[in-house]
Amino acid sequence: MDNFRFYDLQPKISNFPDEVLAGLSKQQKQIPPKFFYDEYGSKIFDQICELEEYYPTRTEFGILQQHSSDIADEIGENSLIIEYGSGSSKKIGFLLDSLIKPLIYMPIDISRQHMLSASKTIADKYPNLKVLAVYADYTTEMLLPEYAISSVQKKVIFFPGTTIGNLEPEEAIQLLKRSATIVGSGGGMLIGFDMKKDPQILHAAYNDSKGVTAAFNMNLLTRINRELDADFNLNSFNHYALFNVKKGRIEMHLVSLEDQIISVADRKFKFIEGESIHTENSYKFSMEEIKKMSEECGFKLVKVWSDNNNYFSICYLSVV
Ligand code: TRP
Repeated sequence: MDNFRFYDLQPKISNFPDEVLAGLSKQQKQIPPKFFYDEYGSKIFDQICELEEYYPTRTEFGILQQHSSDIADEIGENSLIIEYGSGSSKKIGFLLDSLIKPLIYMPIDISRQHMLSASKTIADKYPNLKVLAVYADYTTEMLLPEYAISSVQKKVIFFPGTTIGNLEPEEAIQLLKRSATIVGSGGGMLIGFDMKKDPQILHAAYNDSKGVTAAFNMNLLTRINRELDADFNLNSFNHYALFNVKKGRIEMHLVSLEDQIISVADRKFKFIEGESIHTENSYKFSMEEIKKMSEECGFKLVKVWSDNNNYFSICYLSVV
């Protein structure tokens, strides 16, 4: 395949034991959400995306499907599309099918194997497209292979999903600022935002009736038991998700149902009844917030595509 290249930017691999021990030592215990996605966790997450109550994935797909040619018009011809966290590259298909003449597709992911196989499939399917797969952590500063992309006039970053909302506001701003620098003047960003809405709908999306979300959250404890020789009793913790109105975010927690002491890799951690481990935030946005944040980072909000309920928005931001 001569339309495929692989670039290894040697991302820093996270240290599961150190990060878990550090997180459990904090006043508000916490575990970073990136650790949800072991093999089993990734499977349950796919099930979450199929749930009736979990609207984001389905809604975003619908918007991409319905408006792909309009979105492609906004991106224009002969572009370079960089995708953050491409994973299995399912969403990019709608764009690649609609774009007039995309030149280069550059998926960036820290899941090496996953990205390699998905991007090779794309290179096969679109022989006129150059696929430059980059193994890197897009949440950090990256040195993209400039020589491979410098001739392209228009660069657009595609960042679908709810991922921007899983970052802390300050991290999201840093990511947007770095993105504006990467695409440069005239470049853009096509990005998904999950919108603020009736808290009951949000609550249902993160507390589904079949308990799939609970199983996903609890799988972190199973993983810690298995990999760090810990003794979490899954019957003495519960999944808990709430919408924090003041902070505009869903918070995911694992709540201890009793006073207990847990050992993890030869360390002991005390829990009192009702105390939680905070496992993820999922910020929800208003259009004003999106506009303000974009402008703060050097972008202008140019166009928005939404579903009929305005549950989810795909925004096109252009560097001013
Ligand atoms: N990124 C997803 C989101 O914010 C992750 C997610 C969905 C999730 N359901 C969850 C994380 C339940 C933890 C627990 O929507």
